[in-house]
Amino acid sequence: MTDPKSLSPEVPTSPEAPASELPGGATRREFIATATTVTVGSALFLEACHHTPAGPQLPSPSSPPPAELEVSLTVNGQPRTVKVDPRTTLLDALRERMELTGTKKGCDHGQCGACTVLVNGRRELSCLSLALMNQGAEVRTVEGLAQGETLHPMQEAFLTCDALQCGYCTPGQIMSAVGLLSEPCGTSDADVREAMSGNICRCSAYPNIVAAIQQVRRLPQ
Ligand code: FES
Ligand code: FES
Repeated sequence: MTDPKSLSPEVPTSPEAPASELPGGATRREFIATATTVTVGSALFLEACHHTPAGPQLPSPSSPPPAELEVSLTVNGQPRTVKVDPRTTLLDALRERMELTGTKKGCDHGQCGACTVLVNGRRELSCLSLALMNQGAEVRTVEGLAQGETLHPMQEAFLTCDALQCGYCTPGQIMSAVGLLSEPCGTSDADVREAMSGNICRCSAYPNIVAAIQQVRRLPQ
């Protein structure tokens, strides 16, 4: 009977294993030296492959910011002039330079409607508009709706119709609703829903928002 040990080739374990025990007849030292050369060479090759060729130079992080420029607006009937970085949005100019924080920043990407204000009577997403693009414009924010202690009819309707839950989207909803009433919008609930579709409410107060808008629409003008 065949000795089972004779079926397994002897695996060299000693660092001084004879040359004939390694493939190709190389000694262990020669084998390790070759493997090291290949590894280092591969690393250098990969580094060369990943090296980005010279392209357009980005401004260095230490570049000074662009000089601030003046923008003059009429906000809620008051003339306002502020200095802004040219990259400042109307939303940030209102909130951070004029301290009108009633206008909310939701997505900051034109997708939620929380930042809606009226610019020259039309609803605008203030996060998508640079402050400097609105030089000389008439801007109306939620702070400009009430007359002293008397709420705007749309604010009143939002309260009586229970059209807000957390309230975060509410200033944008109200400004959008006020703007909508001067647009050629149909009179059905579906028309109102369509016209308000850019205003997202995470609390899903939509039925009551539509009811509030319809309530104001029916008021005698
Ligand atoms: S914050 Fe402007 S649309 Fe969302
Ligand atoms: S009331 Fe909460 S997001 Fe609209």
